[in-house]
Amino acid sequence: MLQPRATAQCVAVGTFLPERRLTNAELSARVDTSDEWIISRTGIRERRLVEPGTPCSVIAIAAGHDCLRNAGVGAETLDGIIVATITGDQRMPATANVVQHALGATKAWGYDLLNACNGFLAALTTAASMIEAGRAKRILIIGADVMSSIIDHHDRNTCILFGDGAGAVLMEAGPGDAAVGVRGWEMHSDGAGANELIVPCTGSAPALPGQKPVVYQNGRTVFAHAVRRMAEVAEHCLTSQGLAGSDVDLIIPHQANIRIIEATAERLHVPMSQVVVNIDRVGNTTAATLPLALAQAAADGRLVTGTRILLVAFGGGFTWGACYLQWGRSA
Ligand code: COA
Repeated sequence: MLQPRATAQCVAVGTFLPERRLTNAELSARVDTSDEWIISRTGIRERRLVEPGTPCSVIAIAAGHDCLRNAGVGAETLDGIIVATITGDQRMPATANVVQHALGATKAWGYDLLNACNGFLAALTTAASMIEAGRAKRILIIGADVMSSIIDHHDRNTCILFGDGAGAVLMEAGPGDAAVGVRGWEMHSDGAGANELIVPCTGSAPALPGQKPVVYQNGRTVFAHAVRRMAEVAEHCLTSQGLAGSDVDLIIPHQANIRIIEATAERLHVPMSQVVVNIDRVGNTTAATLPLALAQAAADGRLVTGTRILLVAFGGGFTWGACYLQWGRSA
């Protein structure tokens, strides 16, 4: 096998969650739903919301600061910043530029990456590829979404699912033969599902009559595809490395629905005790779910140097992927 020039290592994680909690009880007072329905169908108990009008860059910057502080690294040493989001501040400029300036990352380039709930994995695999090729040494990847800005708060099909939040991971170059780092990944797309989960009226395509710039989802169809693709890609990402579920310490799945997460774990024969779940407390935060779950694992003392992790995600597109890595910085 070709030895990469460098190993891409995930060395620190940081997050930002807004203070405000939106409970199922509050939602039940607004739309025709119930705490029991939401918990049994999704696993969600509450989500966090920013103050209305808060731009995405505010939470992305906060997560970036937290990550750099945890890494013990100055922003001026960054080569690049990738912000995965579907709720950037404006169409132009990319939110990553705003983040770059606010962090004081004076020599870093920055751009946004739009790939819905699979955005963070897209940012991670892009950054890893640059680092492995010797094109960058230090890249900050951020997943941040203000989902409350694109939700119809009176549509019970969607308003119960999403929350706001941001998470960041610092990626660094380690030696080519390092014991820890990104080991393998795969990404997929199927645009046949493009209309099943969509935020229309936000691009160059003409809007259909009555459409608004909010999330529309065909829940049942998305659910069926998510279950199938998350399980498939998780298994294939491991088997292509000669690994099985038993070789993994932690599964960090996208947090869209507890039933999708359980189906993925079952397919890999991994007990739920090894699967990081925070959907009950934060809901689906789109591009932020994976770093928020990584931070949850760190807070629980389950994320240490060498921890073997499988990240797996599915989102609007359809787009899905998985990445196997060993956490931490080489000595
Ligand atoms: N409260 C109460 N009832 C609700 C409801 C709510 N918040 N939302 C929908 N319902 C109703 C539906 O109207 C439907 O009623 P009907 O049978 O009279 O038509 C019934 O509950 C069942 O709806 P269904 O869509 O089949 O429910 P579900 O078990 O599939 O759960 C989702 C709905 C959205 C939770 C689920 O489909 C899901 O999680 N989908 C994928 C989510 C996802 O992965 N999204 C993002 C990918 S990143």
